[in-house]
Amino acid sequence: MSSPRILVTGGCGYIGSHTIVDLLESGYEVVSVDNGINSSFDVLDGIEAITGKRVMNIDVDLSETAEAVAAIKEHGPFDGIIHFAALKSVEESVFKPLRYFRNNIGSTLTTMKIMEDLNVPHLIFSSSCTVYGTPENLPVTEDTPMGRAENPYGATKQTGEILYDQYFKNKTGKTGISLRYFNPAGAHPSALIGESPTQKATNLVPVITETAIGLRESLMVFGDDYPSRDGSCIRDYVHVTDLARAHTLAIDHLLKQMNHRPYEVYNLGIGQGVTVLEAIHAFQEATGVNVNYMIGPRRAGDVAAIYADNTRITDQLGWKPEQDIQSIMRSAWAWEKARRK
Ligand SMILES: NC(=O)c1ccc[n+]([C@@H]2O[C@H](COP(=O)([O-])OP(=O)(O)OC[C@H]3O[C@@H](n4cnc5c(N)ncnc54)[C@H](O)[C@@H]3O)[C@@H](O)[C@H]2O)c1
Repeated sequence: MSSPRILVTGGCGYIGSHTIVDLLESGYEVVSVDNGINSSFDVLDGIEAITGKRVMNIDVDLSETAEAVAAIKEHGPFDGIIHFAALKSVEESVFKPLRYFRNNIGSTLTTMKIMEDLNVPHLIFSSSCTVYGTPENLPVTEDTPMGRAENPYGATKQTGEILYDQYFKNKTGKTGISLRYFNPAGAHPSALIGESPTQKATNLVPVITETAIGLRESLMVFGDDYPSRDGSCIRDYVHVTDLARAHTLAIDHLLKQMNHRPYEVYNLGIGQGVTVLEAIHAFQEATGVNVNYMIGPRRAGDVAAIYADNTRITDQLGWKPEQDIQSIMRSAWAWEKARRK
């Protein structure tokens, strides 16, 4: 039997590239589609060095539906799509909402057109815990209602979920899963691929590693007066290789028709909250490298605490996180040093 073929949108990006490695190592064939708007095509060399396989990338803008479908059609058929491609800077989305709506919602619509025109039955969507807004109860379960979107980026994730929910409910024979990521971090243990955005890093772990390596003088901890163990915000950090594994399990699940519903959502976090200060200390302990930080005022729009109830994904997809915060920090540091050589 031939290997199932998966179209990975945003395959040259941070999570897409790690997922491609996991898919290839699990026996899938992969084609990537990425226009390099926030990545470098060099990542394909890293994937090849890890897996011994060269992945083809189609360089096209997914928000240009007709052009993208035509370019992708030449390389079908596909058994499934994993849809990562999106712009992801919360900060930028506030200044350029239309750019985010066009790119992210436009690309999402294109994936549905690809499913129709190329007869692709299954899709996995990269969603985010941002869809919960500011949750009232912790940990958050998938039944927690969507909160009001905090910013235009968050609105594109909510919109994606709403559209897929309606699409899969109403399109017989098509199935989908949205994975709501908590805080993806870390890098492949080989240090051959990792997070290397063309945009300025805003997530905590790359900001820590950039500070440690001297690209930033110090990092700002936004607020130490939250109701947490040490006053800083609480997040649920999930290692990118664990995150990648969840995508392979999710596509397996749909291909084997183990799903009970045409569309399902899963929280994807380890289920433990870590404060910003604990994360900084974990980095220092794991690497022996000091990080300069300052305590600043709270940042508008930050949720005090959010972490996942991951019972659904562990029970239904058999996902089990294997890495902890120390391993996230060690791998992120190894990658930071490797990419600056
Ligand atoms: N990294 C996080 O913290 C996080 C958290 C929650 C959800 N997500 C979601 O996960 C997905 C992947 O995130 P990531 O961290 O790997 O981001 P990334 O920026 O590293 O990867 C996204 C990739 O998509 C490509 N892309 C964007 N728009 C495109 C378009 N119109 N056509 C073709 N290619 C396009 C970019 O060039 C990039 O390579 C995104 O949808 C993001 O919103 C990420």
